Amino acid sequence: MNQTVRSVRGMNDVLPAEAEFWDVFEDVIRSWAKAYGYRPIRLPIVEPTPLFKRAIGEVTDIVEKEMYSFEDSLNGEKLTLRPEGTAGCARAVIQHHLASQRPQRLYYMGPMFRHERPQKGRYRQFNQIGVESFGFFGPDIDAEQILMGARLWGDLGLSGIELQINSLGQPEERVRYRVELVDYFEKHADSLDEEAKRRLHTNPLRILDSKNPAMREVISNSPRLIDGLSVESMAHFEGVQKILRDAGIPYTVDPRLVRGLDYYNLTVFEWVTDRLGAQGTVCAGGRYDGLVGQLGGKPLPACGFAMGVERLMALVQESNGVPSSPEIDVYLVYQGGVAEELAPRVAEGLRDRGISVLFNCGGGTFKSQMKKADASGALYAVIIGDDEARESEAMLKPLRDEGKYPQKRIAIDSIADEIMKSFLDEDDFNGCL
Ligand code: HAM
Repeated sequence: MNQTVRSVRGMNDVLPAEAEFWDVFEDVIRSWAKAYGYRPIRLPIVEPTPLFKRAIGEVTDIVEKEMYSFEDSLNGEKLTLRPEGTAGCARAVIQHHLASQRPQRLYYMGPMFRHERPQKGRYRQFNQIGVESFGFFGPDIDAEQILMGARLWGDLGLSGIELQINSLGQPEERVRYRVELVDYFEKHADSLDEEAKRRLHTNPLRILDSKNPAMREVISNSPRLIDGLSVESMAHFEGVQKILRDAGIPYTVDPRLVRGLDYYNLTVFEWVTDRLGAQGTVCAGGRYDGLVGQLGGKPLPACGFAMGVERLMALVQESNGVPSSPEIDVYLVYQGGVAEELAPRVAEGLRDRGISVLFNCGGGTFKSQMKKADASGALYAVIIGDDEARESEAMLKPLRDEGKYPQKRIAIDSIADEIMKSFLDEDDFNGCL
């Protein structure tokens, strides 16, 4: 027997009940981004592999072991399914000279791909909403983006998402710190696991991000980058914190917060919750002033963050329950030769007026069609038999509040008005609550 084909491990279908909820979420995102003057950008899912190697860093988990890379079978070009959106966004800004006249505030949404071990909240195809700015130097934009996060949690009715921030200083400060860190870890080599030993001379800062409990102590006693930052770097960090304090946004400075991607400098931040198990970071980002230059563009300061849509959706559902599906207004029931001709036109006419219509496809007796109408969750059935059709009339039958709006036979031209009127009555009613 043929085996059924299933989706790739870690790459999930989003079924209608959930996808409807994603649609609502994306609408919230669009107005939220607009409120801060961020404009949409749509970027390719496949990019040249060197883009990610140069942007994210050769010695990172993503580039070393998580990228879906392949060769174009026609021309041998090395390509990768994007593991994140910042590199592609910076590439597009350079390629189209987007920031040559004025700074840019951009956002994108879409799937990213990382070959990680799948578990709750961690997938191989996952969705991000990313926000990026290009051309702003000061700490005000870093703070603006953190405030955006705080506002979004409020808009989504979420609480308990905590903000952690740190400053990674400038690359030259990190070079000095790196020497100090390697020296320290070499002295404590016995306490390092294999992964950390491997990272010691390639990317020692990543050791600070280890989740191995056996290394907790050696990490917590290690030298702190923040203690050796320059006056300028500290002033930038203080500038961000001042705006956060003024805005009443609580935060923790975590001197061990390093990010899994190499392009960051100065401010980095993560929003974390303890309500999602091990994968509790819902949003993360920071400043990356060197990236555009590193990718061959004219140096341009930049700052951004991305959130994991699956994690946020899980959190919203955990906090607020699963939202109900949006309602359909009308189920259209019809039978008979004359009705058959009229029914599609009635459905389109109602849709012209903004009323949603489920058309009874596949025929059936009135009784079986009415069963489907009841099961559909529609607010009204519009029923057309030949008798009604000949008179350009239809039966309008409320499927919920029958007592309040009794079934009646009305002219087809009045159906939309009648339904709209009942919606207005409901609004008045709701307005009184
Ligand atoms: P990131 O920390 O790698 O940063 O990812 C950002 C967010 O994407 C994470 O906090 C998490 O919510 C979500 N995420 C990451 N990997 C997975 C996964 N395997 N499954 C589910 N969700 C995941 C970046 O990607 C940077 N590009 C952020 C940024 C934008 N920095 C500056 N601008």
